[in-house]
Amino acid sequence: DWKMDSFVESSIQSIREKVGSGKVLCALSGGVDSSVAAVMLAKAVGKQLTCVFVDHGLLRKDEGDEVEAVFGPNGPYDLNFIRVNAQERFYEKLKGAEEPEQKRKIIGEEFIRVFEDEAKKIGTVDYFVQGTIYPDVIESGLGKSAVIKSHHNVGGLPEHVDFKEIIEPLRLLFKDEVRKAGLELGIPEYLVYRQPFPGPGLGVRIIGEITPDKVRIVQEADAIYREEIAKAGVDKGLGQYFAALTNMRSVGCMGDERTYDYAVALRAVLTSDFMTAESAELPWEVLGTVTRRIVNEVKGVNRVLYDCTGKPPATIEFE
Ligand code: XMP
Repeated sequence: DWKMDSFVESSIQSIREKVGSGKVLCALSGGVDSSVAAVMLAKAVGKQLTCVFVDHGLLRKDEGDEVEAVFGPNGPYDLNFIRVNAQERFYEKLKGAEEPEQKRKIIGEEFIRVFEDEAKKIGTVDYFVQGTIYPDVIESGLGKSAVIKSHHNVGGLPEHVDFKEIIEPLRLLFKDEVRKAGLELGIPEYLVYRQPFPGPGLGVRIIGEITPDKVRIVQEADAIYREEIAKAGVDKGLGQYFAALTNMRSVGCMGDERTYDYAVALRAVLTSDFMTAESAELPWEVLGTVTRRIVNEVKGVNRVLYDCTGKPPATIEFE
């Protein structure tokens, strides 16, 4: 695409001129927007860029390692990459928190704290990079009538980090254009075509209190679900699909034994804008295979449910 080609080229050029010999800081989530913004900056200013990636312990299975493989020292880009393994810090803060908004608030605030702690170690920073895209710009100007969920975006502004200016290289792009720019920059397709993942991560897919063991259950169930969907080739056209952990335990049987374990909920939605969505009709055989694998392979689960609800009245995420 020659247009995207020249957009990427000229953006890199103008970022390079603007930054000069300055230091640049980026909060990297591994999501499409922050990844594309980070790579653009890396191509423009190389080692003057530091990317901080916070693993809050609520990422999908192996996600931290996948992000590190792309942006870390063994990856294709020449930048400073810091991975913060802050799992314990988040789990500690989240102990006892059951209410959705309270959980979102704790995760969002702790995220900023962890990020600021890392930024302090780096010292003076001149520019802060944000992966803001055009729809974010419009949305923030609209003013919502009621807060259904307080959104947390990785890359939100830290309060205690001093910098001269914010750089938002994707500010004029729509999502499909961001993906094109990503491909143009040589970012792997699995990252570029990733489904959306909320800032609070699995925290909003575990109903009620979060524990490390519940995180393990959702991670394993979700990995099986995604693997089988990909294998069956039914992911095309799905807006989002994931496993969530209900806070419900029920009685089951395993051989001659009684079990009293959790129910996992599977969700898959069709949507164009994520404001409304329909539950997707996944093939029954695929759901059967996923169910059998989850109850056999994931310890602590004896029941799998499929969410048939649209948005509204439900939301896409569970909290
Ligand atoms: P809901 O659950 O409100 O989700 O129907 C709509 C879309 O937004 C994503 N989502 C978030 N994204 N930070 C984000 O960056 C958040 O706090 C957040 N909460 C929900 C959700 O995955 C879906 O794509």
